[in-house]
Amino acid sequence: MIIRRFREQDAPAVSDLIIATIRISNVRDYPVELMEELVKTQTPEHVLQRASWTHFYVVEEAGDIIGCGAIGPYWGREDESSLFTVFVHPAHQGKGIGRMIVETLEQDDFAFRANRIEIPASVTGLPFYQKMGYDYKNGNAEMDEEHLYRLEKRLPPPVIRQVDEPAEKERIAREILESLKEWFEVPETREQYIRGSRDQTFFAAERSGKAVGFLCLKETGKATAELAVMGVRKPCHHRGIGKKLFMAAKAFAAEAGYEFMQVKTVQMGYYEDYDRTNRFYQSVGFRELEVIPSLWGPENPCQIYVLSLKDTPGLTELIKQRRSYRGRYLPDRVPREDLTCILEAGLAAPSGCNRQTTSLIAVDDPEMLARIRAVIDPPVGETAPAMICVLSRRINAYRDRCFATQDYAAAIENMLLAITSLGYQSCWYEGHITDTDRICDRIARILHVPEDLELVCILPVGIAASEPVIPKKKAFHERAWFNRFAGESC
Ligand SMILES: Cc1cc2nc3c(=O)[nH]c(=O)nc-3n(C[C@H](O)[C@H](O)[C@H](O)COP(=O)(O)O)c2cc1C
Repeated sequence: MIIRRFREQDAPAVSDLIIATIRISNVRDYPVELMEELVKTQTPEHVLQRASWTHFYVVEEAGDIIGCGAIGPYWGREDESSLFTVFVHPAHQGKGIGRMIVETLEQDDFAFRANRIEIPASVTGLPFYQKMGYDYKNGNAEMDEEHLYRLEKRLPPPVIRQVDEPAEKERIAREILESLKEWFEVPETREQYIRGSRDQTFFAAERSGKAVGFLCLKETGKATAELAVMGVRKPCHHRGIGKKLFMAAKAFAAEAGYEFMQVKTVQMGYYEDYDRTNRFYQSVGFRELEVIPSLWGPENPCQIYVLSLKDTPGLTELIKQRRSYRGRYLPDRVPREDLTCILEAGLAAPSGCNRQTTSLIAVDDPEMLARIRAVIDPPVGETAPAMICVLSRRINAYRDRCFATQDYAAAIENMLLAITSLGYQSCWYEGHITDTDRICDRIARILHVPEDLELVCILPVGIAASEPVIPKKKAFHERAWFNRFAGESC
């Protein structure tokens, strides 16, 4: 018995299998008429159509197809997937084939990129899926209008692990780099990276025990570790995994006593994919050191970046680095840990009489972001993968003194600094959304904000795709003095 990917010529056999299973197994739990209606839709064309946008698998024994199952995006979502069409022929049920199918689907790239897998389960399949760790979606144990239970399994976020065993390093590096042939297309170079990984400091990003990315560090001088190679499976791109790997490597290099980290890539302005890589390195703190056009040939000028591991910018440096960013953002998701860290920075701000009048909502759900964007006209921050909405309760701190504005201003500045320190960009959008057209109220309605809270500001969050514009600021002596006012009165 083998499980393999579906081929076009399997469609009639898969259709027969589905129909037989519905007529023999599902009919015990549903009215015959309903099942016969369903049977009509399960044509070979329907199977082919489903296989065109999912990863469809079949179980084969002695040339017969006895089981099938598919996994694909949940309503086009990149971070949620759904299982479809899981059937085991009645003559072969109870032998662990269903488990084998679901476990295979859960090892598919569509599962690794997802935070959640959903399954529309029949009454017949319900106990099986519950055994496989699926639970009622949102605790709702009611059947939907298609007479199916909506079940889901939430998947843990990727974890970073340092790998010591050379053969394991090589295996993971091979698995990942061979899935990334667009970036590592020359076989000899790819092999060099793979073999080289055996002797390097190696970090793997794993999800449910399967490697989804890796990063190698090598010493290039007593004071410097080079980020020699890193790769993340394509379906898992833009999930913050590269950043997690980098943070682990950076912490290791600093702990090991290195002063600098360097990395090489193709100079900005030549290829779109590499431009994104450049932006990523810049966002995590790398700075341009030198371009060497001769190293990889004139069509691939080599940009060397360097990062000081000793002088991580102090708070005052960070305050000066913060800018209002109004450009495009890279599609990379902002991990929940980072959003939580930003929200915590906001909540840590002082507030008049400690009334804590500011509340915050971080939005990272693409559907919710799309709904919010639809009411921001003209659009701002529309490419940001996350947004923080700032809510204010206008109550008096004491007597008739209300400090709600000061409270949320302090929270916003704290968050902007946290955003900058994590390598993201943002902009304080208040004027734009609180004008006479009251975009803020429309966003508040989408987010179910109660009447006694006012949505006063939005902060898009993401990795910048371009440089922020540096605004002109007045000179120090025009706005700040010692001991007495020494400026010109207006
Ligand atoms: C209360 C407040 C409201 C703001 N509202 C907007 C806004 O609606 N749109 C915008 O593009 N920037 C807005 N900003 C950002 C300012 O324009 C920005 O801080 C200023 O130009 C200085 O640039 P910098 O933040 O890079 O130092 C706002 C800032 C504050 C403090």
